[in-house]
This record gives sequence, structure tokens and C-alpha cells, in this order.
Amino acid sequence: MNESIAQILSSYDSSAPLSQAHTIPASWYVDPRIAELERQNVFGRTWQLVARTDQLLSPGDFVTTRLAGEPIVVVRGSDGSLRAFYNVCRHHAAAVVTQPCGRAEILQCPYHGWKYGLDGSLKGMPEFEGVQNFDRAQNGLVPIRVETWECFVFVNLDPNAPSLSEFLGELRARVAPLGISKLHYFDRRSYSICCNWKVYVDNYLDGGYHVPHLHKGLSSVLDYKQYTIENEDRYCLQSSPMVSSEEDAATGATRKGDRAWYFWQYPNLMINCYEGYMDTNYVIPVDADHCTVTFDFYFSDVSEARRAFNTESVEVGNRVQDEDLGICEDVQRGLKSRAYGAGRLSVRREAGEHLFHRLLAADLKKAPLPATAAAD
Ligand code: FES
Ligand SMILES: [Fe+2]
Repeated sequence: MNESIAQILSSYDSSAPLSQAHTIPASWYVDPRIAELERQNVFGRTWQLVARTDQLLSPGDFVTTRLAGEPIVVVRGSDGSLRAFYNVCRHHAAAVVTQPCGRAEILQCPYHGWKYGLDGSLKGMPEFEGVQNFDRAQNGLVPIRVETWECFVFVNLDPNAPSLSEFLGELRARVAPLGISKLHYFDRRSYSICCNWKVYVDNYLDGGYHVPHLHKGLSSVLDYKQYTIENEDRYCLQSSPMVSSEEDAATGATRKGDRAWYFWQYPNLMINCYEGYMDTNYVIPVDADHCTVTFDFYFSDVSEARRAFNTESVEVGNRVQDEDLGICEDVQRGLKSRAYGAGRLSVRREAGEHLFHRLLAADLKKAPLPATAAAD
């Protein structure tokens, strides 16, 4: 901790080509000051996945979550519009909506009963007669930008950020032919991992480098030598032709198709597709040494007749995840060792990590976002 934050940031050279590049330094994975800078400059400024569109179909449908430490509620209005707000009561700051999801006609704070409309406007304040210089119109829930893409709902805490479609760039055209919005949500698994969130992303972006060593089952259905890695804008697509396998029956039965598609969108969203199958992995930091990753599983057929098959497919995903989890925690311990400073990157495999590290470095070097002040 003797180094200043400026010294830590300048110790990464983002101009080096892949063949000469190092990873970001170990300090970036363990220093709480970097974690705080990321909270402000990365998670506070990028479009973040907060819900599925199928959770917010009807007026009054809501989802609550936290993003970069901020409580958030997303709600479908009576007029059909999707809106997002800071889930913070304008009276004394309690969370107005306390359930993770549901449907409501009015948003009522559980503390002193203030009521807000689905459009965020303040509708009622019990026992508030006689209060002077209080403008109800100025005391609605504070809005946040919200947009959708395919079956996903995103919010952005930065009022000046580019639009979601600008942020996603070419990813939209690349994903469109896969028809992911036709799939149906089936199940969710969440994992708490003792590693920095970037260790998880690095592991995802190593171009299949670890697959033959760590994931024997998955490896049996991928044509590893033909694995491709494409970097563009803020996304990386890793893809592999598939081969049929009897080596691992469960993996062979549940991971099918011509190709496996693994999309990563900066900074923390991963979308994995096989034929009739998608899972999304969304990793969020807890602190410098811990993160949570949420897997949502989708299938083309979620009828009762397919339940056993889909459940088995989720279990295959779960097994791969367990293999990744152990190695990520191991890496976090290694990053704290005095023996390690930074590593080199495989030109054949690790271009995705290189893109990630450069995008991150660019964001961390920006000035922090000014505080959002909701004043009366
Ligand atoms: S804090 Fe919400 S009504 Fe008082
Ligand atoms: Fe893995």
C-alpha cells in the first residue's frame, strides 16, 4: 500500500501490442482503492444488466437490485413505459420497494408510508400538513436511465453515458442471428467466490486455454484447435466448432449444435449459447477480494416434458462452474504473493484478456463521476 493510486495506474502499459503485453498488475486485483475507482468509473458508468424483460411485462411489474452500491428499482408504468429509479425514499432514505420482484399499483415506503406512483411521482405523505417550502413535484423518486436489448434490461447510473446500442456496438448484429429472445428463462444459480471480479473475467477470456486442463467434460465436445477469438468494440467473441462426444454423456447430451458461442461484453456480462440453450453469467464485485456471479439458464423448450433434460443441463453448467471457481480462488491467493507482479499473455489464446485490460485501464484513468445530488 506504499504506492499511490496514480503510480499503480501508470504501472500498466496499455499501448503494448499483444505480443509484448503484460496483464494488468497484481495490485489492481487486490487494492481496495482500485475497487473503489471501479465502482465509480466502471460500474457507475457502464450499462449494467439488472433484469430480464419477461420479469417486467405488465404495468406494475418491478425488480429491485443494487448496482455499484446503489439501491435500484425498475418498474413497468401504467402507460407501458419501463422506468428505473434509485430505490431511496425522498423522506428519510429508506428503500421504498423491499421485495426482489413483484407487481404493485403504487410504490409505498414501509417506513412512514410515503406513496409514489409507478412513474416515480410522489403521490402522498401521511401527516405532512403544515410543512412549508416543500414542493411535492420535486420530491419524486430520482430517475435512472434504462434501456432494453434482446431479452435483457440494462440501467446506467451515468446520465451522460452513450446509449445502450452505442455501448453494445457490433455485438447486437453478431448476436441477432442466434435468436436468443426466443429462448425461455428456466433457472438461476448464484455463486459467491473469494476472488476479485476481474479474475473471473480473465478466466472466461483466456480463449479456451484452460479448457483441456480444467474442464475435461466440456473439452470433449469442443474442437479446441479450431477455437476462434474475435475482439471488437467492447466485446469479445470466443467460438468453437462442436464435435459429438460419448466421452462425457451428460455434456454430450446437453451441449449440442454446430458451434459454441461465448460472448463477453465489457465489463462483466457473458452470454454462452449452444443449440437451443443460453446461459448468462453476470459477475459483480463485492469487495477487492470477493465477487458474486449469477448464472441464468434459458432453453428453447421449458415444458414439463423437458424439465429433467433442462435440469441435467443446468447441472452440467454447475459442474463447469465448480471447476472454474476453485481455480479463481487459487489465482486470487497467488496474486497476493510477493512472488508475482504481472504475467504475459498467449498471442494465440489471450487476446480477449488483452482487450479487457485495455478497456479497464482507459476507464480507470478517467476522472471519477461527480456525485448525483437530488436536492429539494
Ligand atoms: S423514509 Fe420513506 S416514508 Fe419515511
Ligand atoms: Fe472455465
